[in-house]
Amino acid sequence: MVIKIKPKEAPPKYLFGKAARQHQAAKATEDGKDAPAPSQPNPAAQPQKPTAPTVPVAEGTVTQRSMRRLQMTQPPNLPFLRFDAIAGKGGMAVVWRAWHKELKRNVAVKVMNQEFSSSGQDVRQFMMEVRTMTDMHHPGIVQGYGADCVDGRYYFIMDYVDGYTFGSLLHRKTRLPEIDTIIIGESVADAMSYAWNTFKIVHCDIKPENIMVDRDGTVKITDLGLCQSTAAIKTGPSEEVVGTPAYISPEQIYGDVVLDCRADIYSLGATLYHLTTGRMLFPGLSNDDILRSHVSPETQAPDPRRIVPTLSANLCNLLAGMLVKDRDMRYQTWEEVFDAFRAIETGGTVPPPPPEAIASIRLGV
Ligand SMILES: Nc1ncnc2c1ncn2[C@@H]1O[C@H](COP(=O)(O)OP(=O)(O)O)[C@@H](O)[C@H]1O
Ligand SMILES: [Mg+2]
Repeated sequence: MVIKIKPKEAPPKYLFGKAARQHQAAKATEDGKDAPAPSQPNPAAQPQKPTAPTVPVAEGTVTQRSMRRLQMTQPPNLPFLRFDAIAGKGGMAVVWRAWHKELKRNVAVKVMNQEFSSSGQDVRQFMMEVRTMTDMHHPGIVQGYGADCVDGRYYFIMDYVDGYTFGSLLHRKTRLPEIDTIIIGESVADAMSYAWNTFKIVHCDIKPENIMVDRDGTVKITDLGLCQSTAAIKTGPSEEVVGTPAYISPEQIYGDVVLDCRADIYSLGATLYHLTTGRMLFPGLSNDDILRSHVSPETQAPDPRRIVPTLSANLCNLLAGMLVKDRDMRYQTWEEVFDAFRAIETGGTVPPPPPEAIASIRLGV
């Protein structure tokens, strides 16, 4: 079994509070109703030369590395788009905000980093992401439009989310109030229930950086770059396990089973634990030790109430149920998870998992 850890995502570059409001006001003016002329000359928005630019490096040579670095800061040559700014960077791609001249609206353009473009497996996975995000239509999942390759660079056009990721919010606020955590849990459960029941999609990388909130407060899942469709798996489980250590499910680490929606339920539990306590399940450990902690029955993170005493028993019970290490004793469906979040909202009660079900958190304050 090969464990391939997804490269670390770049730190977020979002603005918050007053700065965010000023930024949004400026953006609203700039976006206008139709294709606006940019008020400031924008180097990224200028027509692109058909050939890749040359890079001044020592003795006039252009190394592959310097070219790759430059390409990350240059959008691809697509005349029907006016590239405005980098919206975000992940481990595998740069996402640009661009004005689509025909659709007359902002779109997000995910451009695969050059180092991955030469791997057939990575390109296939990128295309799988594109197909999945264009096939699915749900307000809680970023809508994809289509993809292509230009000058050897793979890109994918999708709806632009004018907001931020919860990863960036964590950097700013350290943790979210319980009610926000419940709304995020409910929204993701609803969207993933659609993805699983309709397309048998397992996201495989649910984490704060891959959940966004739009300007109107809609929670949206993005980055299906590691997703699997169990419907497409004919030959059994994959040899390669991919994911983000802090949020990965135990069965993804073992890699000896065909994954299903329960893997994502665990990752959402780990994500919400982080969002609501401001602390990851297993902080300060090496990647190997984090992976060991997820699978080992001996390793349990503290009850969330030890970190935030005001959290409800209901929410902690629900998180424990999502974080049960053995998937057969975990919440089994997205509907069960959704109903449990709804129950908290409507004054109901959520019981803890049975005592024999060992979770990655230990209940009890
Ligand atoms: N549709 C979108 N609209 C606006 N920003 C986006 C969109 N999709 C992604 N981003 C930003 O780009 C970052 C990287 O995108 P992501 O798809 O997660 O790439 P990777 O697969 O490399 O992790 C995200 O964390 C987010 O900040
Ligand atoms: Mg990502």
